[in-house]
Amino acid sequence: MVMPTILADRYASLDYTESTNNHVFMKSCTNGYFEQNKYHQHVQVEEHNAAPLAKQLIGDALRERVESIDHENCEAGEEDTFFVADLGEVYRQHLRWKLNLPRVKPFYAVKCNPDPKLLQLLSALGTGFDCASKAEIEQVLNMGVDPSRIIYAQPCKTKSYLRYVANQGVRQMTFDNADELRKIARLYPGAELYLRILTDDTSSLCRLSMKFGASLDSTDSLLALARELGLNVVGVSFHVGSGASDPRAFLKAVQDAHVVFQQAASYGYSLHTLDVGGGFCSDETFEQMAGVLRLALDEYFPAHSGINLIAEPGRFYASAAFTLACNIIARRTIQDSELINNGTMTPDTSYMVYVNDGLYGNFSSIMFDHQHPVAKVLRANGQTLYDTAAAEANTDGDGVEYSIWGPTCDGIDRITESIRFPVVLDVGDWLYFEDMGAYTKCSATTFNGFSNEHDVIYVCSEPGARALLGL
Ligand SMILES: Cc1ncc(COP(=O)(O)O)c(C=O)c1O
Repeated sequence: MVMPTILADRYASLDYTESTNNHVFMKSCTNGYFEQNKYHQHVQVEEHNAAPLAKQLIGDALRERVESIDHENCEAGEEDTFFVADLGEVYRQHLRWKLNLPRVKPFYAVKCNPDPKLLQLLSALGTGFDCASKAEIEQVLNMGVDPSRIIYAQPCKTKSYLRYVANQGVRQMTFDNADELRKIARLYPGAELYLRILTDDTSSLCRLSMKFGASLDSTDSLLALARELGLNVVGVSFHVGSGASDPRAFLKAVQDAHVVFQQAASYGYSLHTLDVGGGFCSDETFEQMAGVLRLALDEYFPAHSGINLIAEPGRFYASAAFTLACNIIARRTIQDSELINNGTMTPDTSYMVYVNDGLYGNFSSIMFDHQHPVAKVLRANGQTLYDTAAAEANTDGDGVEYSIWGPTCDGIDRITESIRFPVVLDVGDWLYFEDMGAYTKCSATTFNGFSNEHDVIYVCSEPGARALLGL
């Protein structure tokens, strides 16, 4: 992954230069390069060297925990699945955001992962928060965040929640239909409204536009109704779908938003904010998506227009920061009976392994978020293998084959259909899964009586984040 170099001149409040513990930040700035297509401008940033420290801290936390468990005698649940969260990763993502989308203020989408320390760090970094329910809004307000840093980004709101936000002074919210406008007119006429428009979300993992968003055919009449009801429309919002992969979706959405700004002006509204939603992945596609978005914004909403730009990124911040460790609670040996019977070959032994987390738990991301978490071996044969070659799955067809299953009685509770490792795994061994921070814990259930409350061990590979958190 390309990581940002901290730009000393532009981000003074976050800037530091350090060269200790394999943790080198360079005070330098690259100007980026431009491809021929003006909508494919990238900010190319230098990779800094935080990865070894991050791996070391995560590895130490995993090792300490799993090696401290006496699997033969421990209390029920002591070997439960657990997370290690590197808050330094969140901090680096924030810098990466600032570098690539300097004009766009992020309002973190709490739904993605409402982890309290993650929210605390983001609050200290000065982000806003996108909330979709009373509980999310309450959690953020209880942290001391000013209501002006919250957007209630749910176009179809519960009436009692609307009364709640009116009492709390959370003014910003989205709408996309006439019924919602009438509801808001009755319950919170002073709200600051964002008209959420439809996008082309066909390239995304989780499509949202079949449920939310006003088509450009309907925006004019919605603005007319808002005016008639005396409501305060202040901006336009959109979401190109969670886990989007086609940057052109951002370009089209920005162009459409520009049209709606002009429509609004014809009704006497002077819209002041564009909300470009979420959809940004944390992998290397981010630079490309952000590059297209940045140029589209510069063209249609240039700095001199005075329009504020905000966004609602979720997985971009949370995904890579969380690593999940699961214990193998049972194993079933499978022998290929055909091979045994005809006796011409050594029978291939494979295994079904059952771990203490699954699709009804933190792997809910497989069902709801279309993810494919990849297992690695954390501990086998009495050895902790984190971040070694022996931890990795074989991709060449060699090694022992496994399928990996969750702990519930449901047959769909399968994490991995087939994976090969160089080692033979047994009950009591551990697996780990990286990139488990987005849409995992938040949608876990307690089906079959398995807990969805799992420990999070926090580490922090960035001194800046440690300082902000007072660690
Ligand atoms: C309204 C809204 N904003 C933001 C997000 C966060 O999206 P992502 O995690 O893809 O950035 C979502 C996700 O579903 C959403 O529905």
